[in-house]
Amino acid sequence: MSPLLVTMLALAAPDLARGKALFAERCAVCHGETGAGDGTVAASLSPPPADFTRARFSTDRLLHVLREGVPGTAMPAQPGLAPADRAALIAWVQSLGPKAAPPKAPAPVLALGENVFSIRCSACHGTFADGSGPSASRVGRPPTDFTRKQPTKERIVDVLTHGIRGTAMTPMRRLLSDAELDGVVAYLQSVYGRNVATGAAAESGP
Ligand code: HEC
Ligand code: HEC
Repeated sequence: MSPLLVTMLALAAPDLARGKALFAERCAVCHGETGAGDGTVAASLSPPPADFTRARFSTDRLLHVLREGVPGTAMPAQPGLAPADRAALIAWVQSLGPKAAPPKAPAPVLALGENVFSIRCSACHGTFADGSGPSASRVGRPPTDFTRKQPTKERIVDVLTHGIRGTAMTPMRRLLSDAELDGVVAYLQSVYGRNVATGAAAESGP
């Protein structure tokens, strides 16, 4: 079989049990047994390891992180993973997060959120919330690409309240009214799956 065919078969039928075992072996020390970001060494890392229970991730984002790691953080690239193992790990990580898309917010809420985002967040997170703002290259850990990661509302409010240690993401909650907070949460969640190159609308799948 060609390597491409092997990859396609692996992606078609990922082995969740294998993914779970690999996760326990290679990831849990930082990301925690359940993926909640609370592994035994987590407290010593800045920024802390990602919490997989509070976000949905696209497959291409996870492939990218396994290939490259995350610059400016302790997240190591994972070279030498067999395609089937990579697919199994990705499926396992995706299984830890929310299963369903969050409810879609009314248009005025989204419009307010988009406006707040363009004023306060786009310099780092990018005009299209894809992590490519003009200030992105000046910060250590690159800003989150929300077209490929969809954090829960609770996670977004938590980050806005406390910031993320060891990164350019500072606490910003005090700058926002309650309505602006609701708006920016809804807007961030709404861009997941958006194709920035074509401008195609977001869809719900990972
Ligand atoms: C040495 C500790 C460590 C190990 C081992 C580790 N990670 Fe990470 N990981 C981190 C840290 C720290 C981050 C950065 C958190 C952030 O994105 O701000 C991170 C980020 C990530 C992200 C990106 C999250 C995002 O927000 O985009 C993914 C995906 C990920 N890790 C998956 C894995 C997988 C899968 C494994 C096992 C194959 C693994 N990690 C092993 C520490 C670790
Ligand atoms: C100065 C640059 C900067 C600005 C301005 C900024 N951010 Fe961030 N933000 C970052 C960086 C860098 C990260 C990645 C930190 C990490 O994941 O470790 C981040 C991460 C986040 C996360 C965490 C996503 C996750 O779960 O991994 C949320 C939510 C967020 N930003 C929302 C916002 C919102 C909303 C605004 C505007 C009100 C904003 N940010 C403004 C740089 C910025």
